[in-house]
Amino acid sequence: MTKAAHRVLARKYRPQGFEELVGQPGVSRTLKNALASGRVHHAYLFTGPRGCGKTTTARILAKALNCAKGPAPQPCDECSSCREIALSSSLDVLEMDAASHTGVDNVREVIIETVALAPTRDRYKVFIIDEAHMLSGAAFNALLKTIEEPPPHVVFILATTEAHKVPATVASRCQRYKFRPVAPEPLAEHLADIARKEKIDVDPQALHLLARAAEGSLRDAVSLLDQCRSIGEGKVTLESVRETFGFVPQEMLLGAAQALLARDPKALVVWLKKVYEEGVEPAQFLKDLRAALESVYLEKLGAGSGVEPAWSRALAGATAEGLGFLLRRLNRALEELRFGDSPRLALELGLFSAIEAAHDLPDWVRRLEALERRLSSGGGGPALAPAPMPSAVPAPASAPPGWPAFVSAVGAVKIALGPVLEKCGHDVRPEGDWTIRFAKQFDLDAAERAREFLEKAAADAAGRAVRLSLILGAPAVPSNDIVDPAIPETPGGAPPGTRWKDVAEGPGPGLKKAEGVFGGKARIVKKSP
Ligand SMILES: Nc1ncnc2c1ncn2[C@@H]1O[C@H](COP(=O)(O)OP(=O)(O)OP(=O)(O)O)[C@@H](O)[C@H]1O
Ligand SMILES: [Mg+2]
Ligand SMILES: [Zn+2]
Repeated sequence: MTKAAHRVLARKYRPQGFEELVGQPGVSRTLKNALASGRVHHAYLFTGPRGCGKTTTARILAKALNCAKGPAPQPCDECSSCREIALSSSLDVLEMDAASHTGVDNVREVIIETVALAPTRDRYKVFIIDEAHMLSGAAFNALLKTIEEPPPHVVFILATTEAHKVPATVASRCQRYKFRPVAPEPLAEHLADIARKEKIDVDPQALHLLARAAEGSLRDAVSLLDQCRSIGEGKVTLESVRETFGFVPQEMLLGAAQALLARDPKALVVWLKKVYEEGVEPAQFLKDLRAALESVYLEKLGAGSGVEPAWSRALAGATAEGLGFLLRRLNRALEELRFGDSPRLALELGLFSAIEAAHDLPDWVRRLEALERRLSSGGGGPALAPAPMPSAVPAPASAPPGWPAFVSAVGAVKIALGPVLEKCGHDVRPEGDWTIRFAKQFDLDAAERAREFLEKAAADAAGRAVRLSLILGAPAVPSNDIVDPAIPETPGGAPPGTRWKDVAEGPGPGLKKAEGVFGGKARIVKKSP
């Protein structure tokens, strides 16, 4: 293909009429109806994420207004008005990019002085102001005066990705249209359509991957396709797309997802090793895993569309509840990864704590209750088999969820606060009330400043919302880190609202056995209503 023949796909496939707009049915329907019934407003405000058709629609609207055979919902695309607008060369349709004309003087020059003049040839003088949020306050004021009393032949179309930055005075005088990020399915269809017209040989799965990577932007989707076409010399395969954009190999994601749902830390370790060996970024891994699980999650809720069959099959046994829990965990891990300095640690903590908190705690509670029954009935009986999970989880994620996990998670991010917490007295209640005692005012202040972070870390470690009380006090207060009460309110566990009450301290003969089961120091707790 020669350079001249190669037109950038995004420009070549810019929609020329409302019918061609993808994924904005509300916008195009309303505009077409208004045009059909001759209701022309003097100012429009198009808002929405980048690359979803705002500028494109502004030009279509300008054509519809100025078409020699219009105003009509369907511009003819043949008259000189239509042709010039499509090429951005019409004297009556002025496009300005506010990002480069932010001063009040430019608005004066370009708008205020031209609005008074009649259109050169067409019906309307249309001002398309792109990136309108970039206008200065003074520029907005100047614009406001014109919008308040516009000459009858003037139409303003403001477009912006940041609607909240447009002053309410201006916005309230505009008719507002909200553009939406385009869903992966229509995006993929659009790409398939372009590929057919361009005779690009594409794997449909590759298109889905591209559509997902575009995150709602049609411009991004189309230029990704363009990029893949040049790299693959006209052929676009799933593997080539994965390689080009650093997507994580599918079997790695599937493997990790299955290990998570099967609560199999050994398998998870194997997959994590692969992740590191292949140089996959922890953030990319978490994001791709989240995207894959999300699509299965939606399918389980009956709201999904187009889950890859391999995923449906592999996660057939998973419940929406379990997947929802995992998704929240992955979200948190990504958040921690963003704020922490060790992506690897965030990845490991996130995944392993998901395994533990998700599935083991109710099991632990059942064990505890069984033990309690056994103890109160006086029978020693054989020791319960030790829970396999925690011992099999490798460091540093081996700490049981709760206080120790909290301290190490904080220490990984807040270098000064971690060691301080290790020495703090703490009272960790199963209902989510945590009290931390600081010996020094200075440390207490530091903790207060980091409260939001601490609460998040505590919630993470406990698997539930946590209310933190940070107080000044002696560090020697006995801490109840023995039966770590990070007990989520889950079916099978203790009923919600159950209170746990200390009834005895110090190991008796039965408790010795308990210590063997759980590995640690034991203290009897009893439920009280
Ligand atoms: N709704 C859509 N339907 C079909 N193609 C679209 C759509 N939106 C965007 N495109 C494609 O993306 C390109 C850029 O679109 P456009 O300039 O209209 O986006 P925008 O919303 O104005 O983005 P920005 O906020 O970045 O200015 C178009 O040339 C077209 O190829
Ligand atoms: Mg634009
Ligand atoms: Zn026309």
